[in-house]
Amino acid sequence: MSTSTPLLTPPPLPPLAKPAVTPGFQISKDQLTTIVPVAVAAALGTYLLCRYMNRKSCKKSQVNKSINKDSSKVVHSFDIEDIGSKAVYCRCWRSKKFPYCDGSHTKHNEETGDNVGPLIIKKRDA
Ligand code: FES
Repeated sequence: MSTSTPLLTPPPLPPLAKPAVTPGFQISKDQLTTIVPVAVAAALGTYLLCRYMNRKSCKKSQVNKSINKDSSKVVHSFDIEDIGSKAVYCRCWRSKKFPYCDGSHTKHNEETGDNVGPLIIKKRDA
């Protein structure tokens, strides 16, 4: 004896309604007059922010910002006999008289919170 379930057919679906808008991307002139200035301002703001951030981060990573930048390495050499009784050398790379200290480290320390100072070499009093 076999049992079979009767086939149930679903009721027919109503026809789909057509969308009220035509397919595709459309922008009205009113929307365009708002979107364009906002997009331009956003692009300009992003560009300026990126430029500022890149310059700032790049400059922060360099110790030497202005001295002999065309050289691959800044090196100074002195004979100990030529130093005299005292010499004060810059270690902050901000001195206008580099490699000698001119006190520019004070301004650098105030601006950055750094604590650099000069290297002082002097002869011991005999
Ligand atoms: S100016 Fe650089 S350590 Fe003084």
